[in-house]
Amino acid sequence: MPAPPLDATLLPRPTKARGRSGQFTFTADTCLRVGEGAEGAARLLRTLLAPASGLPLRPADDAEVVLTLDPDLTGLGQEGYGLTVGPHSVLLRAARLTGLLRGVQTIRQLLPVQALARTPQRGVRWTLPCAEITDVPRHSWRGAMLDVARHFQPVEYLRRYVDLLALHKINVFHLHLTDDQGWRMPVTAYPELTEIGGHRTQSMTGTAGDDFDGLAHSGAYTRAELAGLVEYASARGVTVMPEIEMPGHVRAALAACPRLGNDPGRPLEVWTRWGVCDTVLGVHDEVLDFCRTVLEEVMELFPSPYLHIGGDECPLTEWERSPLARARITAEGLSGPADLHRWFLGRIGDFLVRNGRRPVGWAETGTELPAAFTVMAWRDPAHALAAARRGHDVINAHYRATYLDYPQSAGTQEPPGQPGAVVGLRDVHGHDPVPEGAAPDVAARVLGTQAQLWTEFAATPERLEYLSYPRLCALADRGWSGPTEWGDFRSRLHLHNARLDALEVSRHA
Ligand code: ACM
Repeated sequence: MPAPPLDATLLPRPTKARGRSGQFTFTADTCLRVGEGAEGAARLLRTLLAPASGLPLRPADDAEVVLTLDPDLTGLGQEGYGLTVGPHSVLLRAARLTGLLRGVQTIRQLLPVQALARTPQRGVRWTLPCAEITDVPRHSWRGAMLDVARHFQPVEYLRRYVDLLALHKINVFHLHLTDDQGWRMPVTAYPELTEIGGHRTQSMTGTAGDDFDGLAHSGAYTRAELAGLVEYASARGVTVMPEIEMPGHVRAALAACPRLGNDPGRPLEVWTRWGVCDTVLGVHDEVLDFCRTVLEEVMELFPSPYLHIGGDECPLTEWERSPLARARITAEGLSGPADLHRWFLGRIGDFLVRNGRRPVGWAETGTELPAAFTVMAWRDPAHALAAARRGHDVINAHYRATYLDYPQSAGTQEPPGQPGAVVGLRDVHGHDPVPEGAAPDVAARVLGTQAQLWTEFAATPERLEYLSYPRLCALADRGWSGPTEWGDFRSRLHLHNARLDALEVSRHA
C-alpha cells in the first residue's frame, strides 16, 4: 500500500506539506548544528528522542541536521516553522524559538512511532520522509485547563500532562489551583491556605444528594515544584497560566482564614460538596490586601502574561446581608451587590495590569467583566460574541464543545461524569472558536480555544487521560489547523492513536 500523503499523517495538520521521494535516516553519527538562540530546540529534540532511540545528536559545524532562527521569517510569526527534509539533510527554521519547538514535535511525529516509546527500542531505522513543510497556527491560544483543586495531582503527573499537550502543539496549560474543595497554591504569607485549605474530610459522590465517600483528600504544591513545572513547560513552548478563583469558589481559603469572609468569626470547613458554594470573600480592606499578596506570590512563580482570577459563580446573598458589604457599596457609590462584584474584579484587574499582567475571567454573560479582562466564554456562544463586540479579547471555551468532564458518548460504559450533556469527539472537532456572526474586526479578538477538565469525577491520571484523549487531539487540530474535514481528521487520528499508544496514554476508543 502506498504511504499516505505526508500531511495526512500529522496531527495537528500542517498548513502546507509536500512529500518528496526518499528519506533521511538518523544514525548514531548524525550531528546537529544549532544556530544562535536555537539551543532550547536542540535540547528538546535530544531530550525527546533519547529514551527510545538513544541518538546522541552530537554538535558539529558541518552537521546534517540544522536548527536555526531567522528573525526575517516574519510570516512564520511566534510559533510557525519551516521544515525541509532531504535524503542527506534536515533543516528546521523559525523566526522564534517557540516555532522551532513546534517543529521538533513535527519531527517526532514524522519518525517511526517507536520514537515516542518511553523505553529503548532496538532494531528501528530512525527515518524521516523527505518533505517540505511550512506550518503556522490558525489561532494563537490553544489551551487546556486542568482542575487540580477538586482532585490534586502530583507535579510529576503535571509534567506528563504538559508533555502530551506539547505533542499536540497546545500552548497554554491553565492550572486551576484553588476552589471551594481545595487550595493547592503555596503562599508564604498565608501558610494556612495549604495547611488547612489543602485538605477536605471527604467528597460527595454524584452531583446531588447527601452521599459522601468518607475518604479524606489532600494535596498542595511547593514553590519549588511549581517553579520547576513552569520551567519544564517553557522548555516545551507551553505557558502555565495559573488560576486563583475570587471572590467566589473560595471556601477552602475561608476555612483557612475565616476572617476573610462575610461573617468573620464563623468557622468553616473546606467544602465537601460539588456545585456552587454560597460562602464568598468579604470586601473589607484586609480581603483586598490578601488577594494582592497572594497574587504577588503567584506573579513571582508564574511569568505568564495572563493570570486567571475566576470571577464567576459568585452568589450575592452574603453581600446582600453583610453590613460591611453594604458599607462598601455606599462608600464606593455602587448600585448594589452585582455592581460590587464588578468593582471587586475591577480592583484586582487593575492591580494585575499595574503589574504588567493581563487578567482573565470566566464570562457569565460576556458583558459583565471590566474592560481590561480577557474573557473565557464558557456558557453560551452568544457570550463570546458579546464580549468580543464589547472589545474584550476572547477565548472560546464553550462547554458543549470543550468541557472534558462531560461523557464522550451516551453509552452506559462511560465512567461517571458531569450530567446533562455529551461532549463527543465530533462536537470538539466541529467547534469553531470564532462565533457565528462575528465581523472581521470582532473575529480578530478571538484568541482561540481551550479545553476544560474539571475533576469532580476524575481522581486518577488514567481517568484524566481517558477524558482528555482523543478529545484534546480534536481541539488541538481545530485550534492549530482551522477547520478540517471530519473524515480527514478521523484518518489522521487513526494513525495518531498509535503514537498515543506508544506513550501509554489511556484513551477513549
Ligand atoms: C465554569 O464552568 N464555572 C467556568
